[in-house]
Amino acid sequence: MKNRNSIALVGVQWGDEGKAKIIDHLAEEADVVCRFQGGNNAGHTIVVKSEKTVLHLIPSGILHSQTKNLIGNGVVFDMEVFLKEQKSLKDKGIDVGPSRLLVSDIVHCIFPFHRLLDLAREKHKTKIGTTGRGIGPAYGDKAMRLGVRIGEFARVDKVRKRLQANYEEKALQLKELGDHSLEPFDALFDQSYQNYLAIKDHLVDSSRFLFDAFRDKKKILFEGAQGSLLDIDYGTYPFVTSSNTLAGFATCGTGVGPSKVEYVLGLTKAYTTRVGSGPFPTECLEGSDKEAGEWMAKVGNEFGSTTGRARRCGWLDLVALKRAVQLNGCHSLALSKLDVLSGMKEVKLATGYQLDDKSTSDFPSLYLEEAKPLYESFEGWGDLQGIRSESELPASAKKYIARIEDFTETKVSMISTGPERDQMILRSL
Ligand code: IMP
Repeated sequence: MKNRNSIALVGVQWGDEGKAKIIDHLAEEADVVCRFQGGNNAGHTIVVKSEKTVLHLIPSGILHSQTKNLIGNGVVFDMEVFLKEQKSLKDKGIDVGPSRLLVSDIVHCIFPFHRLLDLAREKHKTKIGTTGRGIGPAYGDKAMRLGVRIGEFARVDKVRKRLQANYEEKALQLKELGDHSLEPFDALFDQSYQNYLAIKDHLVDSSRFLFDAFRDKKKILFEGAQGSLLDIDYGTYPFVTSSNTLAGFATCGTGVGPSKVEYVLGLTKAYTTRVGSGPFPTECLEGSDKEAGEWMAKVGNEFGSTTGRARRCGWLDLVALKRAVQLNGCHSLALSKLDVLSGMKEVKLATGYQLDDKSTSDFPSLYLEEAKPLYESFEGWGDLQGIRSESELPASAKKYIARIEDFTETKVSMISTGPERDQMILRSL
């Protein structure tokens, strides 16, 4: 972050690109790390000296003691999850007090009925394959003007009325879907209020906090969650999450203007994964590709850190990647998990699709499920573990990276060669 006042780091695939490691690296020089969208559907795994920390809601900068960590207004916020995650970090000796862990006072809350509704809808309606954390129903309430923002708990009588109206509507919907497990309103309200009391000292006006931080020349890192192809507008709708995951939302989701995001860093794996349902042209399902997919799953340990679900695996799709680069306005790309492909004889990159009896290198805004990938094949490379400099990179890996840069017209500025914090080749940002 040395030369930058602010960076937005976003996943440019379907999530799980390994954002926490890059954030953790950039956070060494950051003063503030902010989450701006999503909720505890994210699972950001950081490995320090072989000790693993998985964060779902709290920004990944928390492990660096000089940072302040902000949960912006664009997030949907589960108070119970926050308190649990805060406690587990505290137990590890990390300072998670209100001076360095801040929450927007207008963040929308996820309540137990949102979680139940998420699960019930998955069972009975469209199977998106959600994380079941109540994310969609909470964002739905925000758009429907039914949501409750955490700061509203400061006026108990007012918030009780608003929450009760919402509760009664949700209780009916749940009954219709055959779920009778919702607790009585008084119990839900009392628990929510107790949670609020435990969190209230962390609440801030996110916009004002960041305005002051920018004025004081602090270095700000915006931490994206999920990935560009899960964006509610530009992702593979309806198989998407319920927020805008693109870098543009870093501003609305924290309360700063677009000119405040100085640099956009897009993160992609050296291959592709996807959790849940939806189109995935380069998924490795048949023949030798099937073996390659199983390799990626095994070596890359491709199991969700939030739900434990097996991730679907496939080759890196440059058509989709280029689209994501354009949607985010990426200045450069970070490449993660290049080491996972080590040892494969052949690796592939999709550089076109066959669609409507034509070949194209443009990502379609609809009907992605009909696209068949067209591949370029590359020679594989050997072990990369521990490689920290460009000169040690095998020529075949360099060629692979050069093709990514050439196709996307974007340079690769960071290359991750293993899970540890320092297993990384740094070019210039
Ligand atoms: P939701 O965000 O729980 O509503 O899930 C919607 C879709 O986004 C599902 O396909 C999830 O698997 C996917 N999803 C949500 N969060 C993540 C993530 O952090 N990584 C990868 N996929 C995610």
